[in-house]
Amino acid sequence: MSRTSIHGEWSSRTAFILAATGSAVGLGNIWKFPYMAGQYGGGAFVITYLLCIAIICLPVMMAEVMLGKLGRSSPINTMYHLAVENKQSKIWILLGWSGAIAGFLILSYYSVIAGWALAYVPELALGTFTKVENMPTAEISPFVDSIFNSLTENPTKLIFWHTSFICMTMFMIAGGVKGGLERAVTFMMPALFILLLVLVGYSMSTPDFMRGFQFMFNVNFDNLLYPNCTEQACELSGDGLLAAMGQAFFSLSLGMGSIMVYGAYLPKNASVSKVTTAVVLADTSVAILAGLIIFPIVFSNGLEPGAGVGLVFKTLPIAFGQMPFGTLFGTLFFILLVLAALSSSISLIEPAVAWLVETKKFTRISASVLSGIFVWLVGLITVFSFNLWSEVKPIGGLNLFELIDYLTANIMLPLAGLLIAIFTGWLMKKTIVANELNSSVDSFSYRIWYFLLRYVTPLGVSIVFLNAIGVFS
Ligand code: PFF
Repeated sequence: MSRTSIHGEWSSRTAFILAATGSAVGLGNIWKFPYMAGQYGGGAFVITYLLCIAIICLPVMMAEVMLGKLGRSSPINTMYHLAVENKQSKIWILLGWSGAIAGFLILSYYSVIAGWALAYVPELALGTFTKVENMPTAEISPFVDSIFNSLTENPTKLIFWHTSFICMTMFMIAGGVKGGLERAVTFMMPALFILLLVLVGYSMSTPDFMRGFQFMFNVNFDNLLYPNCTEQACELSGDGLLAAMGQAFFSLSLGMGSIMVYGAYLPKNASVSKVTTAVVLADTSVAILAGLIIFPIVFSNGLEPGAGVGLVFKTLPIAFGQMPFGTLFGTLFFILLVLAALSSSISLIEPAVAWLVETKKFTRISASVLSGIFVWLVGLITVFSFNLWSEVKPIGGLNLFELIDYLTANIMLPLAGLLIAIFTGWLMKKTIVANELNSSVDSFSYRIWYFLLRYVTPLGVSIVFLNAIGVFS
C-alpha cells in the first residue's frame, strides 16, 4: 500500500542525504567518539566500532530507512501500520515508543553538552585561548582544565546554555521538514567538513602527529578487553565491546526512530541502499577525522587521551590558541559544532513531534514547545550531575548523566536495532521488502544485506550483550 506523509517530503534525494547526515554527524562524532576511543585505548576500539558499522549498523540503517519509507509516518504509527500489514502483533508499536523515549533521554543530555559548545563560542571569539601560545607546556593542561571546570561546576551557567540550546532546537523543529530542517543542513554540513580538513592540516603539523595516528590505528585488544586495569589487577570486561557497538548505533542515529522518520519523508523514487551508504560513509569519515585531529594535539601537549567527557573542550582550544587565525577558525568551529549538534537534536525529537501532530492533532509549534519543556526539565538531571549531584552514583559507580548515556547508547539503541533486524528480516513479507528496495529477491547485494540483517545483526548484538553481562567470562 502506498501512503503519503502528512508532514511533507524532502525536496530531493540529496536533501535526505544531507538531513540524515545532519542527524548522524554531531556531538557523537566530534565529542564522544574521540573520548571513548581515548578511554578504551585507541585502535581496538576504533576497529570494533568500524566493524560494527559495517556488518551490524549498515544493514539496520537500510532497514530503518525502508520501514520509514513504507510507513510514511512517525515511528510509532509506522510500526503500527507495518505490523498490521504484515499480520504481526500490534505490540511492535512499542519499538516506536522506545525510540521516542530514548530520543527524549538522549536529547536531555545532548543539549547540555551542546550548551558547552555554545559557551565556548564567546570564549574563542574573545581570544581566551590565545594565552596558550606563550605558555610552557606544563602550564597548558591546568589552564584549559580550569576554563572547562569553571563552566561545568557552575549550574547557573550550564542551565543558561542548556536553555539556549533547547530554544534553538524548538525554533528549528517548529519550522517543519522543508522550512526548518532541510534549509539548515544544506550549508552546515559542507562547511563543517571543510573546517575539519583545515584542522587535520593543523594537527599534521604538530610534532606528535604520528603518535596520535598510531594510537588510533594500532590495534591492541588488551586495552579494550581490560579497560579497568590497575597496578594490582586486570579484570576482563565486556564493557569496551559494548561501548564500541553502542557508539556505532549512537553515531548513526539508529534504533531511535530518527532515521526511520527521516525515511518517511523520502521521495518515492529514491534508492534506499544508495542514500544509506552515503550517510554511513560521511558519518564515519567525520568521526575518523575528529580522532585524527584530536589525538596528535593530545600527545603534542602532554594531555591524557583518557581525559573523558572534557577531551575535545580541552584539546581543540589549544590548537586554536596556537594556529594562525586561530581565533577566527576556533569561533567558526564551535559555531559549526553547535549547528551539527542542532541538526542531530532536531532529529532526536522529530519522532515524538510527528506523533503528537499525527495522533494528538497538535500543531507543529505546540508539539515542539511541549516536547521542549519536557526535555529541558529532564536535562536538569545532567546539569546537576556535573556539580551538585556529582556524587550521586546509584548504579555501577556511574553518575546520573553517565547512567542515562549508558542506558540509551549501550542498551536501548542496540536492542531496538536487534528488534528492527528481526522484524524486517524474519517477520515482514519478503516481497514487500524486496519491492521497496527496488531489488529482485535473488540479486547478489540484496542477498548479502538480507543475510546480514537476518543472522549477523541479531547474533552480533546478542553476543556483545551477553559478553557485557559476563556470560562468556
Ligand atoms: N548521531 C548523533 C551524533 O552522533 O551526535 C546523535 C544522535 C542523533 C543519536 C539522533 C541518536 C539519534 F537518534
